[in-house]
Amino acid sequence: MSGQRDLKAYLKAQAQRVDVSLDRLLPGDEAGGLILQAMRYSLFAGGKRLRPILCLAAAEAVGGEAERVMFCACALEMIHTYSLVHDDLPAMDDDDYRRGVPTNHKVFGEGMAVLAGDGLLTQAMVVLTTHAHVASIEPWRVLYATQAIMRAAGYEGMVGGQAADLLAERQEPDLATVQLIHAKKTGALITASVQAGALLAGGNEEQVRTLVRYGRRVGLAFQIADDLLNLTGDAAQLGKATGSDEQRGKMTYPAVLGPVQARQTGEQLVREAMDLAAGLGQGAWPLVELARYIMERTH
Ligand code: IPE
Ligand code: IPE
Ligand code: MG
Ligand code: MG
Repeated sequence: MSGQRDLKAYLKAQAQRVDVSLDRLLPGDEAGGLILQAMRYSLFAGGKRLRPILCLAAAEAVGGEAERVMFCACALEMIHTYSLVHDDLPAMDDDDYRRGVPTNHKVFGEGMAVLAGDGLLTQAMVVLTTHAHVASIEPWRVLYATQAIMRAAGYEGMVGGQAADLLAERQEPDLATVQLIHAKKTGALITASVQAGALLAGGNEEQVRTLVRYGRRVGLAFQIADDLLNLTGDAAQLGKATGSDEQRGKMTYPAVLGPVQARQTGEQLVREAMDLAAGLGQGAWPLVELARYIMERTH
């Protein structure tokens, strides 16, 4: 693969830029006390930065500038990290490791972990609406993108999916239910990431619509891959426990279809996503390669 189209190098460079911006948008400050420490602990524990990178790549795919949507990319990572902190709580998945380190509640206690999640979610809203970041963008675009993100994070999206995930524990697996759970708990925020990136960068209706279709496929495939990695992946490489879905009786794609058909389903979704992104032109190559990477990843 030519240097320009080296996804690994692209991901590394973009993740570094995201980390620098996150540190600017949520700086360490002694006056912030333990709560700020807890928020930063999970935010900077690692993580692939997939959602922010998708947002930046979508901006470029529609001919815009990635740097102009960086604030939005960072807000998406804050929301995602909040969802992980809460997902790991004893009242939910009860996990001890995340991003290769002890989970937030293991270090700071449950009360502080609940608040760290709340703090990250609300900080995302602050970042999305900070005048300095949005001044150069048409107001309707900022409003539309913010609404898309918050709907994707809320009961119609991630929160709704997490609730359905809990309610489905130890229930008879069925494809329609698991598809709904995955589309909401993971697909919605991933879709909003490309949608918001494109919208804020000046994308037209057609481009945004294509990216929403891309995001739905990549988002669902991403959670199918997460299910498969929970079954057969390496905990050290993943930075989180494996085998836990089966233990908790989670409704997953491999539980419904078996691992082989689950993988085939993911691969089909990825092929469709790659075609959609390719239709956006040369500037969308990272989105094409990112889709391919989703089912090939080992962490
Ligand atoms: C994990 O997300 C939870 C899911 C929604 C599948 P990621 O695999 O993106 O986790 P990080 O951000 O890299 O830690
Ligand atoms: C996490 O789903 C989804 C969200 C946090 C929204 P999982 O519970 O399946 O993800 P992991 O395996 O703990 O990362
Ligand atoms: Mg969960
Ligand atoms: Mg979990």
